[in-house]
Amino acid sequence: MKKVIFFILCLQEVCRASLLRQKTLLTYSLPENRHLKRALGYTEDTYLNFTELATKYRYSSEEHTVITEDGYVLKVFRILSKCKSFSASLPIILMHGLYDSSDLWILSGPQTGLGYILANNCYDVWVPNHRGNWYSRKHLTLDPNKDIEFWNFSFDEHGYFDIPAIIDYVTEVTNKSKLFYVGHSQGTTDYFVAMSLRPEYNNKIQLSFHLAPIAWMKNIISPIPKSIAEITNEIKVILDFLGIGEVFARRQLSHIILEFFCQYVPQLVCGTGLAITTGFLKGSVSSRILAVAFGHLFAGSSGKTFAHFGQLIQSKNFQRYDEGKIGNLKKYGMEMPPQYNISKIVSPVILICGQNDWVSSLRDVDELSSRLGNLIETYVVPKPTWSHNNYLWDLEAPKLVFKKILDYLRRSGT
Ligand SMILES: *[C@@H]1O[C@H](CO)[C@@H](O)[C@H](O)[C@H]1NC(C)=O
Ligand SMILES: *[C@@H]1O[C@H](CO)[C@@H](O)[C@H](O)[C@H]1NC(C)=O
Ligand SMILES: *[C@@H]1O[C@H](CO)[C@@H](O)[C@H](O)[C@H]1NC(C)=O
Ligand SMILES: *[C@@H]1O[C@H](CO)[C@@H](O)[C@H](O)[C@H]1NC(C)=O
Repeated sequence: MKKVIFFILCLQEVCRASLLRQKTLLTYSLPENRHLKRALGYTEDTYLNFTELATKYRYSSEEHTVITEDGYVLKVFRILSKCKSFSASLPIILMHGLYDSSDLWILSGPQTGLGYILANNCYDVWVPNHRGNWYSRKHLTLDPNKDIEFWNFSFDEHGYFDIPAIIDYVTEVTNKSKLFYVGHSQGTTDYFVAMSLRPEYNNKIQLSFHLAPIAWMKNIISPIPKSIAEITNEIKVILDFLGIGEVFARRQLSHIILEFFCQYVPQLVCGTGLAITTGFLKGSVSSRILAVAFGHLFAGSSGKTFAHFGQLIQSKNFQRYDEGKIGNLKKYGMEMPPQYNISKIVSPVILICGQNDWVSSLRDVDELSSRLGNLIETYVVPKPTWSHNNYLWDLEAPKLVFKKILDYLRRSGT
């Protein structure tokens, strides 16, 4: 099992590396080739970008650029409130998860896309992309295609640099001192890291919502990440040796292959893929949405992020990246990586979790909730089959999850 996973992971990266060296443009041109996708009969929403999707469904949106302290250039989208009168509400940030992008919040369309639903309810919606994904693959001085240092980040840097930069930008542009935060999966990890490493940002948060929260990963149920975790260090060494920093990106084979098969046999390929990794119940998300989703998923991140999650699973701690003894001494002044101090998170937190989520297990959520400084509620979605991706694309998400969020937003009166 481990060997197979190892082989598949290496294969896609090595193929890409060798193709690039031979300057073959196959993998590089395909993701942008809309003529080909149209000819193959792909659902249009599969390849439209955030702005195009919003425009198609008659929402006004804007594209913003946020630059972090360490020079990463992040793309942040904004969906304007649908309400005519000036909205006095606080802005809302929607933060995506691992190998994902801003698009996940709208790709399922106006009925289930949280971005649209919030705009319908008069909210000012901000949808960022963390460093290194499809939209934020840019730096002031580093070139992501040439400089391996560009990829020297994990969710530790998303939390320490990206989230604070985005909060500063949004509060400044909107002239509001506080905002709301909604994260999914790694988007919640980013928040916990940000608020514990830079606790001064807690007072900029009115309320935060965490769908499928990830901090401790002691009790992860899914067998695949568990097996991969045992070999992440080896994988990282090989990737470093090959000079590969980026994994599961839009221009890589994993994306291209999945996008293709999900157009034709979405439940069989992508439904099964989600089922064996996250506990997803096949058929709980419509075939159309699955097909569209896999055009946007695997938007890319760093191999180091992947390795950091592997370390969480193996160490059974919620801790900073282990750079090795010497690296740790240099970076943290101690031999072992420090723990994230969750009790420093004093901003209000609402955890939303699923009973059949193989990645964010209820027992790990318990560990997190027992340590948070200001937990308002842990809400378990009252449907036994609810899993990691149902929050985003399930037709019942508005009823079972978003209604809860809207109730809290209204009650907070801002
Ligand atoms: C999205 O597509 C539009 C139209 O093709 C283009 O003008 C815009 O730059 C794209 N936005 C991003 C962030 O790629
Ligand atoms: C990545 O950054 C860490 C410190 O954050 C440093 O110790 C390490 O050498 C860097 N690795 C590379 C490949 O630049
Ligand atoms: C920003 O908000 C403050 C009060 O919250 C107000 O006094 C100030 O005029 C506002 N600035 C702008 C440019 O709207
Ligand atoms: C964690 O933070 C709390 C609150 O600031 C503090 O009292 C405690 O000493 C910290 N723990 C560690 C291990 O640093």
